[in-house]
Amino acid sequence: MCIFQLNGVTKIYNEGKENAVTALHDISLNIEEGELLAIVGESGSGKSTLLHLLGGLDVPTSGEVLYNGKKIKYKSPNWLADYRNCEVGFVLQDFGLLMADTALENVCVPLLFSKSGGLHAARRTAKHALELAGIGNLAKRKAGELSGGQKQRVAIARALANNPNVILADEPTGALDSKTSSEIVSLLMELNQQGKTVVIVTHDLSIAEKCRRVIRLADGVVHI
Ligand SMILES: Nc1ncnc2c1ncn2[C@@H]1O[C@H](COP(=O)(O)OP(=O)(O)OP(=O)(O)O)[C@@H](O)[C@H]1O
Ligand SMILES: [Mg+2]
Repeated sequence: MCIFQLNGVTKIYNEGKENAVTALHDISLNIEEGELLAIVGESGSGKSTLLHLLGGLDVPTSGEVLYNGKKIKYKSPNWLADYRNCEVGFVLQDFGLLMADTALENVCVPLLFSKSGGLHAARRTAKHALELAGIGNLAKRKAGELSGGQKQRVAIARALANNPNVILADEPTGALDSKTSSEIVSLLMELNQQGKTVVIVTHDLSIAEKCRRVIRLADGVVHI
């Protein structure tokens, strides 16, 4: 079963203006539930744009994106907020953490925006997510005082907090050395084996090779 289906998706930034950019051009693509997919391509080829459309962070100019067979409701802020919080988890190159807060507090953030049953339940769920990410012991440490790899594990725990079906990772190892990178990729692979659909945008071909399927973008077009 397809978890994502893109039908003729085009994304033009600043459409109709002098500075218009076609970031994605008429993309049709299926992503199966439980896939481990890498998206590769040169800088500017549209990788992040594609991930943002999947994650409901940006809106296609034309075409449609289906999630579990239903159109993503890009025009409904409430639907989108719920979708972004509960169905997909984002992991970014620069972690996007609240550095002055503890690992646990960072992971609590998405839980407090969902119907998690209050602070006590959120803390318990966050602790469990940190354990899944292999850093249950770092719950009380300030995010800003952790190593790059540890920060990325906090970000992965945060992405897991609401038990999403999908992890969308945009250059998740871009800021890490090669040993730490491969640990983070192993963690993403483990999560995939536990049933999550994982999409990794990467420049690193050694990471892409570990994924079951690789999609190459060039100038906004898919080359398989
Ligand atoms: N918010 C925006 N406004 C205007 N143009 C944008 C915007 N975001 C991206 N673009 C343009 O869209 C194209 C695709 O950008 P995108 O960020 O998707 O590329 P990428 O493959 O993720 O690149 P990188 O590997 O450098 O992260 C680029 O030409 C970029 O300049
Ligand atoms: Mg990018």
